[in-house]
Amino acid sequence: MILVTGGAGFIGSNFVLDWLATRDEPVLNLDALTYAGNRANLAALESDARHVFVHGDIGDRALLDRLLAEHRPRAIVHFAAESHVDRSIHGPGAFIKTNVEGTFTLLEAARAHWSALEGEAKARFRFHHVSTDEVYGSLAPDAQAFTEDHAYEPNSPYSASKAASDHLVRAWHHTYGLPVHTTNCSNNYGPFHFPEKLIPLMIVNALAGKPLPIYGDGMQVRDWLYVGDHCSAIREVLERGRVGETYNVGGWNEMPNREIVSQVCALLDELRPSPAGPYARLVTHVKDRPGHDRRYAIDARKIERELGWRPAETFASGIRKTVQWYLDHADWVAAVQSGSYRDWVARNYDKRSA
Ligand code: NAD
Ligand code: TYD
Repeated sequence: MILVTGGAGFIGSNFVLDWLATRDEPVLNLDALTYAGNRANLAALESDARHVFVHGDIGDRALLDRLLAEHRPRAIVHFAAESHVDRSIHGPGAFIKTNVEGTFTLLEAARAHWSALEGEAKARFRFHHVSTDEVYGSLAPDAQAFTEDHAYEPNSPYSASKAASDHLVRAWHHTYGLPVHTTNCSNNYGPFHFPEKLIPLMIVNALAGKPLPIYGDGMQVRDWLYVGDHCSAIREVLERGRVGETYNVGGWNEMPNREIVSQVCALLDELRPSPAGPYARLVTHVKDRPGHDRRYAIDARKIERELGWRPAETFASGIRKTVQWYLDHADWVAAVQSGSYRDWVARNYDKRSA
């Protein structure tokens, strides 16, 4: 079996669902169920014996040791993290705790487990670290996209904590020989995306007739990838990636935020027209994010050259599926908009007047 951390979050739950849909190998899913973790994402697996869910923290060494000894996974796929830049600006402590200290604890537990393995089991063990393009910092408009050897220049507490975790993973390979891979991926979108991030926030606000808050001039560029394509990239690297290597994963799809919001509005106009008029009427420009990175772009040629991976979805096909998913899952959306979600929205947006 494999151990997945953070498998109740956005990308982790998509990964677990895709994994069990495409192969028969069981998954041990360890998740602390923070505000971003949601067991409802895994409802389809409720009676699937191949999925074992454990509610726990990657910072709990005794728990990790017990799980590794009991289940003896052949690989660890590490998604668990605090993942939202705006939250990292309001409260960086949790990011250091989970992304840095938690990854350290997980690496130490993995090292002890791997060191005790022998023969074939030891040779095939892998620790796969899931990271972000944000560790590379912000690109000038005409600069080349990020390659794997781009300098690390993280600018937010979130990206600094992920950069630190990448460095720990690298060092545990270099110093102790732990067989690791790291993938640095661009912005994902798709089903089960918590509606505090750009795309799902715009969909749920538009459907509720609420303002669509674009930070600053909205000309910040991100390279958007459908979540299913990120999951397939991780599967490829896990199976065939070279040990100790980093692979950048992206959608070859750079787009400014304004354009993203405009496409989401156009799709909603088509699929769920509002009697009040086009959804773009709700767009509002609000105070910018402090230290807002201007542009990210991934050069994904290494993973294509070495492993033959390319995204299957275009942005047009992926965003249509995503908007349709939110229209079809109003119950999921209502359930995640709890009191703590509403507190977050008030905290992040109330002082950003238009
Ligand atoms: P998410 O915030 O939706 O989910 C994170 C999950 O981790 C949640 O289920 C949460 O409960 C769990 N978790 C948090 N702290 C934990 C802890 N201490 N112990 C155990 N579980 C814990 O995040 P996501 O968007 O699914 O991102 C997953 C990973 O992918 C992260 O490492 C993130 O840095 C990386 N990543 C995300 C994106 C993106 O666009 N979302 C892009 C590239 C890389
Ligand atoms: P986000 O989804 O938070 O991802 P990240 O900051 O990790 O790239 O934001 C994507 C882009 O959208 C980013 O440039 C910030 C911008 N944004 C807004 O303009 N308004 C919003 O309400 C949010 C949440 C993000």
